[in-house]
Amino acid sequence: MSRKSIHGEWSNRWIFILAATGSAVGLGNIWKFPYITGENGGGAFVLVYLLCIVVIGIPIMMSEVLLGRRGKQSPINTMKTLAKEAGASRHWQLLGWSGVVAGFLILSYYSVIAGWALSYVLEAGSGTFTGQSAESIADLFVGKISNPWVLLFWHSLFMLITMIVVARGVQRGLEQAIRLLMPALFILLILMVGYAMNSGEFMQGVMFLFNPDFSKLSWGGVLTAMGHAFFTLSLGMGAIMIYGSYMPHDASIAKTSILVALADTLVALLAGLAIFPIVFANGLEPGAGPSLIFMTLPIAFGQMPGGLLFGTLFFVLLVFAAWSSSISLIEPAVAWLVENRKFTRLKAAAIAGIGTWLLGIITVFSFNYWSFSFHFAGEKKSDGMFDVIDILTSNIMLPLGGLFIAVFAAWIMHKQASQDELAMGGGARYQLWKFLVRYVTPVGVTIIFLKAIGVF
Ligand code: PHE
Repeated sequence: MSRKSIHGEWSNRWIFILAATGSAVGLGNIWKFPYITGENGGGAFVLVYLLCIVVIGIPIMMSEVLLGRRGKQSPINTMKTLAKEAGASRHWQLLGWSGVVAGFLILSYYSVIAGWALSYVLEAGSGTFTGQSAESIADLFVGKISNPWVLLFWHSLFMLITMIVVARGVQRGLEQAIRLLMPALFILLILMVGYAMNSGEFMQGVMFLFNPDFSKLSWGGVLTAMGHAFFTLSLGMGAIMIYGSYMPHDASIAKTSILVALADTLVALLAGLAIFPIVFANGLEPGAGPSLIFMTLPIAFGQMPGGLLFGTLFFVLLVFAAWSSSISLIEPAVAWLVENRKFTRLKAAAIAGIGTWLLGIITVFSFNYWSFSFHFAGEKKSDGMFDVIDILTSNIMLPLGGLFIAVFAAWIMHKQASQDELAMGGGARYQLWKFLVRYVTPVGVTIIFLKAIGVF
């Protein structure tokens, strides 16, 4: 294949692994995974989630990287080119478009939550948590989210720093930062787990996470677990596809995908192990919802020796993890604007950024002025439009996007093309991948989806 990306290429395969890990590891692992695990009863949910990572997530990640590296353009144009190459309908580019829309929607709320983390850097650094009770820490959080102006301020700041890196381009902006910060986050999480071992109800936390009780898991919960597998691995919307398009040709797609998925899962499990022991030790509610980490971790930081330093560092790293994810959420749109509209990266980033920022205002208000509750797939949701956008993207758009990516890679693309890119020959490992994306993924996603909405 002689196609080349006009946006540049990662310097080597390690940078791809770092960037894809940077995209995958984010609020999804540290903020969302613990709270949805808490809402869905723990162990059984975690088990389904892990299963989805292995049988659906990794094969789809391989497919997405392979499509990206073959097409070498924004997901929209990649799908157009590859569909043409395979003699398939032009409408496959809709897959790229739906990814762009999903990216905007996700980033619009992602940035608001990252804004919470940003504001907690300041709280932690100024000693607000020192010696505070669980109640006053909860009050602090509630006070913060009930003030839309505060949320708007931090949301704006986070969007601004995201757009600056996006405008600078993926390599110059991002490579240096993640090289250092990802390992730092990892080490800090291990430290926090160590703290939870000594001061929290550690065994209760472990049991909650790993002892499955299927009576607590509904089909709605299964759908959330599957949707989260897509969300946490950044799949189904083109983020991994565009990163794959910057991937050098000699890197192994299977190995890198497995490595990224492993790192991502490890971070999520560590976050769970750091948080639930504190939840139980303080008599807090595991199903508290999106506020969970903001109401638990500060208690630990307020009590542990060196908590001021660790607390500040933790939120700084959380912001960085969110930052490297948010960049990948908008990159498919920016790359398309550069390719098709001939915009400079700066202009493309500004336009996409302002659009997302505006959309984010809906989420800002959903925690105060516009909050309402509703039911979806048997579960009560009470954060209004935030929940609507989250369900629409994680539980519907990403799984559907992933499903079509699998169908394209396994059914539409010529066998020679996928074999070339995966470079695994035609042997057992290639056959296993093909079997998973051909049958297991499409059937699995469809069944879970129909079950959750109560079709049968
Ligand atoms: N994977 C990121 C996280 O877990 C979120 C994300 C979703 C990023 C989809 C890109 C695309 O925080």
